[in-house]
Parts: sequence; structure tokens; C-alpha cells
Amino acid sequence: MSGNLILGIETSCDDTSIAVVSESGQVLCCKTASQVDVHKGYGGIYPEFASRAHVEAIIPTLKAVMEETSLTQSDLCAIGVTRGPGLIGSLLVGLHTAAGVGAGWGLPVYGVNHLRGHLRSALLEGGSVRYPAIVLLASGGHTLVAHMKDANSMELVGTTRDDSVGEAYDKVARMLDLGFPGGPVVDQAAKRGKATIRFPRPMLGQGYAFSFSGLKSSVRRYMEQNPAPVVADVAASFVAACMEVLTSKCRAAIAAYRPASLIVVGGVSASPQLRRAMQTLCESTGVALALPPPQWSTDNGAMIAMATWEYMHRGAAQILDVDPNLEIGTL
Ligand code: KG4
Ligand code: ZN
Repeated sequence: MSGNLILGIETSCDDTSIAVVSESGQVLCCKTASQVDVHKGYGGIYPEFASRAHVEAIIPTLKAVMEETSLTQSDLCAIGVTRGPGLIGSLLVGLHTAAGVGAGWGLPVYGVNHLRGHLRSALLEGGSVRYPAIVLLASGGHTLVAHMKDANSMELVGTTRDDSVGEAYDKVARMLDLGFPGGPVVDQAAKRGKATIRFPRPMLGQGYAFSFSGLKSSVRRYMEQNPAPVVADVAASFVAACMEVLTSKCRAAIAAYRPASLIVVGGVSASPQLRRAMQTLCESTGVALALPPPQWSTDNGAMIAMATWEYMHRGAAQILDVDPNLEIGTL
């Protein structure tokens, strides 16, 4: 008899993360091998080093999960693994490992869309979502707003024309010499500062499209023109501009689509400023807020396992091809 747990494997970028999750979203165990030390000297992710680090970490991480939980393959009913979007070399390591382990253990293996993983992260550990819903997915690779009529439908409402908001955080962190990864260090600096500089709010009031490249460039210009900047104030002013743009697009989508809930996911949803801003927006519009606990906001195997439950219930095809450019509407 097969078990009733799913093993999720995530290697799309710079974390090797493996988790075991029940159908109700309980995370029995999640182990993540971080590559921060591999990439921090470069101020960003070095793709070839990322895939090599995944090769080294993936089997020890899997073993650690199985040992800590005392589970065996007979406790599992499926394996889910990210097949895109992401870095091709990193994706291949996860996918090939999952395919091999699945064949060895006699388990079905589902290739999962990383973005749908983020989406389902809001259901982990007691989270719930009411539909129809508006989704804000703000990560290092994506910034988008989507409309979900129900749990199985997905209509893209707006996306970024250039950089994602997470990418802007990472680049601003580098300009301000705050270190890597950018999100948390910019957050912390912003907390100590005051939003005294009026950076532009790109595409405010212009539909649902985002653009963060201009905002990033104006931070760069400010740094060039001000040889002794108050770094905390620059960070606070940058974060304030990001928050205003993200909040106003969500407010417009809430007014247009009248959803029951707003789902906020992706790495940037770990930001305390974004969490507070979205809380205030939802209170003022009477919409329920679905937010994953911060630890499930950034990339992790638990969200991939959670999404795999959806694939299984839908009888989705077990696609094991990588697709570095997979879009959110695709399974
Ligand atoms: O979802 P994620 O882990 O990976 C992708 O799918 O891209 O998102 C990573 C992004 C990075 O750009 C990082 O700077 C941002 O999320 N991030 C944050 C925070 N933690 C991570 N941004 C703002 N505040 C944070 N606390
Ligand atoms: Zn992600």
C-alpha cells in the first residue's frame, strides 16, 4: 500500500530544499542547503556554481529528511520536483535526482511549476484561501498580479516589463553595499531609516504592469550625486516606493475583481513592510489576506510538495522536461 505523504524537491535557483508534506499542508520536515556562501562574493547568483552546489547537496539533504522523520519510501505516495522556471542547470539536478529516486522507490514523479509552488505556499500549516482571489507573486524572478476565479483557474492580470521587485532589492543592496541576499538586508536598513527621498513610483495609476528598472536607476543616480548618503534613509525611501507601487496595483485589482481574498506570495512576501502594507490594504477593503509564514515565502521544498497534491488530484501528466521559462498559467 502506498503512503499518504508527498516529498517535494526544489532546486530552481540557489537553495537545495527538500520537504515532506501531508495533504492538509502539515510540513513534517523541510531541510534547505543554502548557497549564500557560494555566491556572496559575486553579489548575485553564479549559475554554474549553483548547479554544482546542488549536485553536492541534494542526496545528503534527502537523506537528512528521511532520517530525521524516520520515514521510508512506503510512507510516500508521490514525489514533486520543480521543472521551471529557473536556472536550467539547477533545475536539471533536481529533476534527474527526482526521476532516479522515483524509479528506484516505485513512486510517481510530477514536474511542478515553481510559481504554482509559491501560490500553494499560502496553504501550508493551516493556511486557507477563499476564492475568487487576487494573487500578488513578488519574487526574485517575477512580479505579477493574477486573478483566480477558483482554485484551478488562473488569469494573468499584469506583470513586470523589466526587473522584478526582488531583483531591484538585490541590486539596491549591492549599490548600498549592504551585502547578499538583498531582500532581508535592505529591509533591516530600511527599518533604521526614514523615507526622506522621493524616488519615482514607476507606472503608478497605469494599469497593472510593473517596472522596477527606473526606480533602481534613480537609486543609483542618487548614490552617484550624494557622496555621503544616509544609507538607511535611501533604503527606507526605496522600500516606500516599492510598497506604494505594489499596494496600488493590488488595490486596483481588488476594486476591479472584487475577490474574497488577496494571496501574497514569493520571496518578497517575507518583507515585514510588505506584510504590514498588505494587511492594511486588506483591512481597508474587507478582503481576507492569505500570506504564508515568512519561512515559506522564500524558495522551499514544502511549497513544491504542497503544489504536487494539486497535480495528483487533477491527474496531471508527469512531465519531466525542464522549462526554464515556464509561465504561471501552465501546470
Ligand atoms: O521566491 P524567491 O525565494 O526566489 C525566486 O523565486 O526568485 O525570491 C527571492 C527574492 C530575492 O530577490 C530576495 O531579495 C527577495 O526575494 N527577498 C526579500 C526578503 N527575503 C527575500 N525581499 C524583501 N524582504 C525580504 N525579507
Ligand atoms: Zn521562488
